[in-house]
Amino acid sequence: MSHQGTVVPPHPWVPHRAMIRRFCAEIPDVSTLDIRLFDDAERSRFDCQPGQFNMLYVPGVGEAAISVSGPGLEPGDWAHTIRRAGAVTRELTRLPVGATIGLRGPYGRGWPCAAAMERDVLIIAGGIGLAPLRPLVRYFLSNPSAARCVRLLYGSRSPDHLLFAEEIDRWRALGLDVDITVDRASLGWQGNVGVVPMLVDRLHPLDPTRTEVYLCGPEVMMRYTTRALLQRGVEASHIWLSVERNMQCAVGLCGHCQLGPAFVCRDGPVFSYEHVAPLLYTEDL
Ligand SMILES: Cc1cc2nc3c(=O)[nH]c(=O)nc-3n(C[C@H](O)[C@H](O)[C@H](O)COP(=O)(O)OP(=O)(O)OC[C@H]3O[C@@H](n4cnc5c(N)ncnc54)[C@H](O)[C@@H]3O)c2cc1C
Ligand code: FES
Repeated sequence: MSHQGTVVPPHPWVPHRAMIRRFCAEIPDVSTLDIRLFDDAERSRFDCQPGQFNMLYVPGVGEAAISVSGPGLEPGDWAHTIRRAGAVTRELTRLPVGATIGLRGPYGRGWPCAAAMERDVLIIAGGIGLAPLRPLVRYFLSNPSAARCVRLLYGSRSPDHLLFAEEIDRWRALGLDVDITVDRASLGWQGNVGVVPMLVDRLHPLDPTRTEVYLCGPEVMMRYTTRALLQRGVEASHIWLSVERNMQCAVGLCGHCQLGPAFVCRDGPVFSYEHVAPLLYTEDL
């Protein structure tokens, strides 16, 4: 309340208090945190769509944009899968369960699930790019009529870097078609060796006129994968990808995440390839 008695709306940059409720080490340098808002009313309103992200704040260190990788194990918790990159992500993955952090969000436009209706869906992930796609895989598994069929193509550096490996086995058991490849095999690996675009080249059958693609991974992987998809005849307007740019405000005010005329935080992070192709490989402004 202000001193005149009027209610001051919360500043869009002010994080809500949240608690780390569960920590799960996934693969080298990557962990999943289940996070819960303290406030009951905020928690009951809070809902994240597949592909959206939150800004996680470590007091005294800073903020980082982290995608929601699904609901947490307990109702009201939300999972965030984090790769240690620098100060904020290192600290986030070092904090103990029970620690207080800040959270604001959810932000951005996520995966357009409705675009998959009556279409053959390809979900394509590289490395930790599977984290923002996991809620989408789960969505299609629990809504079988949302697409004609769904296939996951996933690539990682090595077998030890395969994220959510046990969950992928459960997806397979539920009938999901999954093709995996690794850049470097290790002893005992009997699967594919090579990069993700190779999986696209080998896809059979593929009807490009009714294929919808959801893609997330390192930018170089997305570049070569989109090229392979276009060569197979998939239309740019049916390829959706999640773009990463450095974030600050996350609400379309500071211009930090600008990509040509678009702001990744507000207009993305998910864009159609048709929309971002001319802008994708420009540097942050
Ligand atoms: C929409 C969106 C969703 C994201 N989702 C996830 C997620 O689910 N899990 C996850 O681990 N990370 C995610 N990231 C990336 C994450 O925000 C950055 O890795 C994080 O901000 C790094 O902060 P830091 O302080 O730990 O490292 P910093 O010290 O800020 O950075 C460490 C290194 O990473 C580089 N870097 C920082 N941010 C980015 C970026 N956005 N893109 C490319 N390079 C960057 C820096 O240039 C530097 O070299 C996402 C980013 C965006 C924009
Ligand atoms: S982060 Fe400020 S405009 Fe996108």
